[in-house]
Amino acid sequence: MPTERAPKSRRSHRPRIRLPEPARRALVACHVLASVGWLAYVTFVLVLAVYVYFADDPVLAGEVWMAVKVFNDLGAGVVSFVVLGTGVALGLSTRWGLVRHWWVIAKLGAAVAVIVGGLLVLRPSATYLGDHLVAVGGTHRTAHLTLTVGVALAFALLAFAAVVSYARPWGPVRPAVERPQDDGRFEVRVRRVADLAEKVRSIELAGLHNRLLPPFEAGAHIEVELPSGLVRHYSLCSDSADRLAYRIAVLREDAGQGGSREAHRLRPGDVVRLSLPRNMFYLGLHPYYLFVAGGIGITPIVSMILQVERAGLPWRLVYTGRTRSRMAFADQLATTWPGNVVLYPTATAGRPNLVAEVAGLPSATGVYACGPDRLLNALAGTIGRAAPHIELRTERFSSGSGVRERFEILAERTGTAVEVGVQQSALDALNAGGVDVPSSCEIGACGTCRLRVLEGHPENPPHVPEPNAPDGAPYFYPCVSRSGEHLIVDA
Ligand code: FES
Repeated sequence: MPTERAPKSRRSHRPRIRLPEPARRALVACHVLASVGWLAYVTFVLVLAVYVYFADDPVLAGEVWMAVKVFNDLGAGVVSFVVLGTGVALGLSTRWGLVRHWWVIAKLGAAVAVIVGGLLVLRPSATYLGDHLVAVGGTHRTAHLTLTVGVALAFALLAFAAVVSYARPWGPVRPAVERPQDDGRFEVRVRRVADLAEKVRSIELAGLHNRLLPPFEAGAHIEVELPSGLVRHYSLCSDSADRLAYRIAVLREDAGQGGSREAHRLRPGDVVRLSLPRNMFYLGLHPYYLFVAGGIGITPIVSMILQVERAGLPWRLVYTGRTRSRMAFADQLATTWPGNVVLYPTATAGRPNLVAEVAGLPSATGVYACGPDRLLNALAGTIGRAAPHIELRTERFSSGSGVRERFEILAERTGTAVEVGVQQSALDALNAGGVDVPSSCEIGACGTCRLRVLEGHPENPPHVPEPNAPDGAPYFYPCVSRSGEHLIVDA
């Protein structure tokens, strides 16, 4: 039974306290009025201090400082605490937070400095001067000047706080981010595990020391190095706006090589190593999205849905699996977006009618599909026949496991055949096999590594500069491309 919360679109800067709008407005008004009153009071004291300093009359100075003390005790001091309290409440109940933005930290620091300085230095000094100035006689000017400078400093800090409050400079504080080690991997801790569906377990991975994780885009996958040293690829199924934890969903394959079984044995607190997220299943910008998922292929699609939902764009999901109890996220998706999600547990509802699903789609629709080959081939065939104008992007999983397939490449000129493992790029495999393929960017951007395909179908990510040669032959970018079948390339 699924035990996870429903996936929700989340923003990274949610307030800790949610206030009704009238209460928030009242808080803002209270904060602004108290701030203005505090600044006006300190300005008034500063003007008085300067005046009596130049008047050079110890008795007048003593009376002024005594009046300041009395005025402070009658309520002027309370205003500073009102400003501080309403400021903290505003920080916690708005997206600004208390320590998310430099200007808020600076403002808070200035207010606290003035309050502490006022309590510990200015108030006792004013009391002392008020009580003893006449007796101090000729030395009062030094003490008076010191106090005046203190008030001037308080005025400067409050004026500074008012300016930064208006200008909001310097941007947000940059939180610490997990950094990969020399081998490109970084350690994370298992934060939570939960059963999502029959044989499917959700694993949340958070940074050590609660640092932010490296950013990723919907559709990305990571390599997970398990405690035994086995490495497995899993798509991220969490919200790309949430960088406090990654989430993967692992289908347990009892007849597999043991990676998924080991992943299912992970417990909160266990440490695993991750690669940086990589994306070969990019989400483009479209006015409408059709998502098609089969089995555990739902994982990158969940992340895409969260991103599209956050952008407020329309979408529809066609999700198929053998039984509903084996379809991870099915209940959560159908409950959260009942008008967008259609489920096809094939044991009871049969296979999805793909012709009906693609018929009538707007021409700029983006179709994103992930799942087993049979589903993706059927979808590609349907779109090719019924809606060739639609853009289809797919990610293939072997047997719905979340593990990418091995494939073979034959470099025809050198006569070398290499096998590309699930954990390596074709570029690495070719170079390791003695086929010298030059490279530069290794992210599919420069085209240095590309090879003409003589036979087979490459799966290039959509961002590669030229998917085809001028004569129409496909290109293969071994630094980022893969294939679901045997390829023969001109190398
Ligand atoms: S090295 Fe630049 S595209 Fe492959």
